[in-house]
Amino acid sequence: MAPNPFLCRRALLAGAMHTGVAIALAQPSFAADKLSRIVVTRDPACGCCGAWVAHVQQAGFPVEVIETGDLAPLKGRLGVPEALFACHTAEVEGYAIEGHVPASTIRRLLVQRPQAAGLAVAGMPVGSPGMEVPGATPETYEVILFGPGLRRVFARYRGAQEV
Ligand code: CU
Ligand code: CU
Repeated sequence: MAPNPFLCRRALLAGAMHTGVAIALAQPSFAADKLSRIVVTRDPACGCCGAWVAHVQQAGFPVEVIETGDLAPLKGRLGVPEALFACHTAEVEGYAIEGHVPASTIRRLLVQRPQAAGLAVAGMPVGSPGMEVPGATPETYEVILFGPGLRRVFARYRGAQEV
């Protein structure tokens, strides 16, 4: 199924009505060579979320998918700032992963283990994993590390390439 930004945008706007505060407690990983399971909560109507799930699976992460039409409570519980809202919301090792975050950046997060609530790619940049549009110029976008009192650029990409 092709990415459908319109449906995803609608989910995004619906989620923007709610806020919340949460602190993620990062759990230590047991084995460095085995990737932890990512739990992805997504709207089944949103095609680009499915494409992102395929991206992280291809990168070697075991994935569990939870489907719901209302992601706002989860985003609130995980402390995802409204300004960083995207379509799907994932969880791995106690971190929140909001939106079309490249799998390589998630791996770096789990190695560096910064004190933070999670990573986010706000909105749905064209060319980010799961948002590839044939013929369209990939956007430059930032992966933001966020948490209580924390908001900094963790990585910067153009399409699939780190820049
Ligand atoms: Cu999306
Ligand atoms: Cu999505």
